[in-house]
Amino acid sequence: MEELTLSLSPTFSDFDRSGLLKAILAQFRIKQHGAHGPSHWARVRKHGLTVGGAVGADLLVVELFAFLHDSQRENEYSDPSHGARAAVYAQSLNGTYFSLAPEQLAKLCIATTGHSEGKIHRDPTIQTCWDADRLDLGRVGTKPRAKYLSAEGAKHIESAYAWSIR
Ligand SMILES: [Fe+2]
Repeated sequence: MEELTLSLSPTFSDFDRSGLLKAILAQFRIKQHGAHGPSHWARVRKHGLTVGGAVGADLLVVELFAFLHDSQRENEYSDPSHGARAAVYAQSLNGTYFSLAPEQLAKLCIATTGHSEGKIHRDPTIQTCWDADRLDLGRVGTKPRAKYLSAEGAKHIESAYAWSIR
């Protein structure tokens, strides 16, 4: 939590960030210091804001994806429905910690539901979310591959890999 808090500036979007993080952590069922915990969320957020800023993505959706996409994991390994559960959870929080318009919420739900499938999406906000998560694969011993990233995301493979294995 401390590591995440320290990495949360500058801020680009206005929402109850600390309330949201507290709520997510209060129900988080796997290790906070594991591969899908807050240090991963912080790196995904940073990658998302970098890539998303360059491609004109909706940075509020991108930041919320970073915090929420792995929030419903039940284990660190195979949990194919965790993204769909995260979408349901995101919907339940909308209007409390953040306020997304229907089309923003729809993009967040598509991004969370499909984030583990290795697909490419033509919507820059959704693809930025997926890029941001995939750019942090070095933490589990996998170097990100350009074929699973947008052209903008692929520019950050080397720097992201170096950060995730540090
Ligand atoms: Fe993730």
